[in-house]
Amino acid sequence: MSHDLARTRAFFGVRAAGWESRFPDDGPAYAAAVAAMGLRPGATVLDAGCGTGRALPALRAAVGPAGRVLGADATPEMLAAAVGHGRRSSGALLLADAGALPLRPGALDAVFAAGLVPHLPDPASGLRELARVVRPGGMLALFHPIGRAALAARQGRRITDDDLRSRPRLRPLLAEAGWRLDSYVDEEDTFLAIALRGSAVPGGRAPGVPTADGEEL
Ligand SMILES: C[S@@+](CC[C@H](N)C(=O)[O-])C[C@H]1O[C@@H](n2cnc3c(N)ncnc32)[C@H](O)[C@@H]1O
Repeated sequence: MSHDLARTRAFFGVRAAGWESRFPDDGPAYAAAVAAMGLRPGATVLDAGCGTGRALPALRAAVGPAGRVLGADATPEMLAAAVGHGRRSSGALLLADAGALPLRPGALDAVFAAGLVPHLPDPASGLRELARVVRPGGMLALFHPIGRAALAARQGRRITDDDLRSRPRLRPLLAEAGWRLDSYVDEEDTFLAIALRGSAVPGGRAPGVPTADGEEL
């Protein structure tokens, strides 16, 4: 395991048990973000960095019983908490690094990622990996249940365009990874950037990755 992944696990591992009680009122914001994705019944969707699986019930409701929902996270304690919250009834849980997913190229219609990208050691490479596993024309939704300005204020810093999620930084970052920014909302109580997958993934990883749980993905 890389040093970065070990650090991520150490950081989030101790926070997993109390994760959902920190911000108990975020549920409607997750549901609204998933609704904004306009997922079709029967679609296959991944929650990358799913944590305790807060978004999984909304994703399942969107794709229906014929759809497929996966939640992937690198921190075992987060997935254990997801099991404790009963989230396995909404989707399959996968212990995996979002930067090297055990999924076939183009296996997914969409990826939802809440609070993941700022934690990736190499966001450009992580976004390329997400593009690899999404079909051309598929979707990426980058969500946070608080806007950039409100988050900066909460953390006692000033908002600047250096922030990975600022539109001037995010658009080219996505483009270099094979995504086209389609819509961008940054308000007090929500951040949601939706991007669509182009036909090619610049510098994407080679195909042929085995599936994790025996599913044909
Ligand atoms: C800020 S939390 C958000 C969790 C969840 N999406 C939510 O909204 O409640 C970030 C999550 O990303 C996971 N994570 C960080 N780096 C990761 C990586 N490389 N691969 C998979 N998961 C990762 C962490 O374990 C953590 O659960």
